Amino acid sequence: SASAELQGRKIMITAGPTYEKIDPVRFIGNYSSGKMGFALAEECARRGAEVTLIAGPVQLKTQHSRIHRIDVESAREMYEAAQACFPTADVGILCAAVADFRPETVAGQKIKREKEEELTLHLQATQDIAASLGKIKEENQLLVGFALETNNEQQNAEGKLERKNFDFIVLNSLNDAGAGFRHDTNKISIIDRKGRKDYSLKPKQEVAQDIIDHLAAVLTL
Ligand code: C5P
Repeated sequence: SASAELQGRKIMITAGPTYEKIDPVRFIGNYSSGKMGFALAEECARRGAEVTLIAGPVQLKTQHSRIHRIDVESAREMYEAAQACFPTADVGILCAAVADFRPETVAGQKIKREKEEELTLHLQATQDIAASLGKIKEENQLLVGFALETNNEQQNAEGKLERKNFDFIVLNSLNDAGAGFRHDTNKISIIDRKGRKDYSLKPKQEVAQDIIDHLAAVLTL
């Protein structure tokens, strides 16, 4: 049955955006809603997996009792949580839209406009969580990535598959109406070292079923 298919599997999922503090009241963020990652978490739990959901700041609730949720805010916190969790997981699904850069320093007080005409923020690169887990991935573990591309999607996705040591990557194209950030629907392709599968536009819950169908097939190989 569906509820036994992933029985005993430990699955770690990252979801949502990260917020990188500028000062006590401001941050750098992005439009990720977390809906895709949360749908994946519910689908994995429904099929019997023990899920750890590492969630950035989102307005979403978890339903299933087999989802253990860890709330984080920044890329650094998400990195720490993922590093701690992945070694004991069977699968890592990296669905979060992690900030690529953070302010080098966080102002202790709210930055004032005063008489300044300009403000320069110095940014530094955050850790690439996916790449760091790709490096420590063992033979018996799977790592699944996401890619949102605006151009050269196939080539960029293949590059990420290799660089981050993913087993497969889920591509969503911003070129498709109704796909990507904030929408309740998504249109994906799954790319691995054997080829590419294209899916039609559908609700994120059904997209999650397609992705976990693919994952379950890889797990039973
Ligand atoms: O390089 P890019 O950000 O497009 O790669 C997307 C994939 O890498 C996603 O699976 C995303 O969750 C993951 N990623 C990450 N840590 C980062 C940046 C991206 O885990 N700092």
